[in-house]
Amino acid sequence: MNVFDDWSERAERLVRTLVDKGKVSSPEWQAAVRAVPRHVFVPVFHERRGGAWEVVDQTQDRWLELVYSNTALVTLLGEAVPISSSSEPGLMTRMLEALDVRDGDRVLEIGTGTGYNAALLAHRLGDANVFSVEVEPELVSAARRRLAGLGYHPVLAEHNGAGGLPEHAPYDRIIATCAVPMIPWEWVEQTGDGGLIIADVKPHVFAGNLVVLRRKGKRAQGRFAPGWVDFMDLRRPGTAEPHRHPQRDLAQARRRTTGLLTERPWEESTLWFLAHFRFPPGVRFGYAMDPGTGGPGAVFLSTSDGSWCEVSTTVDNGVRQVREGGPVSLWRIIEETTDLWHQLGKPGWERFGLTVEEGAQWAWLDTPDGALRWVIGARR
Ligand SMILES: C[S@@+](CC[C@H](N)C(=O)[O-])C[C@H]1O[C@@H](n2cnc3c(N)ncnc32)[C@H](O)[C@@H]1O
Repeated sequence: MNVFDDWSERAERLVRTLVDKGKVSSPEWQAAVRAVPRHVFVPVFHERRGGAWEVVDQTQDRWLELVYSNTALVTLLGEAVPISSSSEPGLMTRMLEALDVRDGDRVLEIGTGTGYNAALLAHRLGDANVFSVEVEPELVSAARRRLAGLGYHPVLAEHNGAGGLPEHAPYDRIIATCAVPMIPWEWVEQTGDGGLIIADVKPHVFAGNLVVLRRKGKRAQGRFAPGWVDFMDLRRPGTAEPHRHPQRDLAQARRRTTGLLTERPWEESTLWFLAHFRFPPGVRFGYAMDPGTGGPGAVFLSTSDGSWCEVSTTVDNGVRQVREGGPVSLWRIIEETTDLWHQLGKPGWERFGLTVEEGAQWAWLDTPDGALRWVIGARR
């Protein structure tokens, strides 16, 4: 038997898994996952094993297993960092359902990648209503070839999706499958009145989430989605300036203690989101190794203005040791933001929203007109 012969049974099992996990409910999107062979779009992918990337292809049994499971598959690496992937099917169906399409709606996708999501859209809405933009030329040609092989002919364009695709606007829906530091105004302009935009808005690394915005007149507004997702970033060709990061000179550091015992503040995603509004640009974080033990001895934060802190992972007498340098006390920001976050009742994403106007966008808590708002600017 050919390895592909049972793909439709596997696709059917994937649909059942997604239904059981609550990732898809509408019959239309279930039918799309059933009808589109995902294996055609991911003939090869990369799997992280033991700290290195391994190629997985049709010669390995686990290839087809993983293709028809609820797994994101990394399909392109640049300097050992993923730059394209086929997202988790359950995340894709969640986003597609949140798009709330009607027959005949015209949809623009930002980030064609493998073309699988474009195929799901084309199955649901028809070729003439699907448009997709991708910045990597070789991905566009591979996606076009695979889609055509299955009889799908959506419009694919090769350029920076930050500008949308004005020549076919307006769209009823825009879906971005890469993260943006803020919503490009062009996307709002290219969405018809009453239309929806869904995107992962991440003003800083890990700080942000999926948001669903409705355009009304000169504004797009809506709430963040419950849960948390993390898409790869929209790359801005030619504009990336690597942030410079300070050497952490422990001998010269300011020293104090902290009663805040949270070890990895970046894992509390709404707290981390609030903290970023006070951080200088270019935040980095992680574990600092203890040269004595060779294991993680502290967590560090640093920003490109030269600020940094290291906070010990061990707790003695209810406190941890803080060492800091540079102009801004980054751990103080985490401490104060933690206090604020507690005062606000540890809000989940569903309490946050986003308003986008030309030249200004801001996040808010509970209501767009309330006093609690945080201005978003592109300063990753
Ligand atoms: C998570 S993948 C998209 C997955 C895709 N929707 C699929 O079904 O396979 C994100 C994609 O966004 C693309 N991308 C990154 N920056 C971009 C940009 N400025 N314009 C358009 N696409 C971009 C990446 O090359 C990558 O293919």
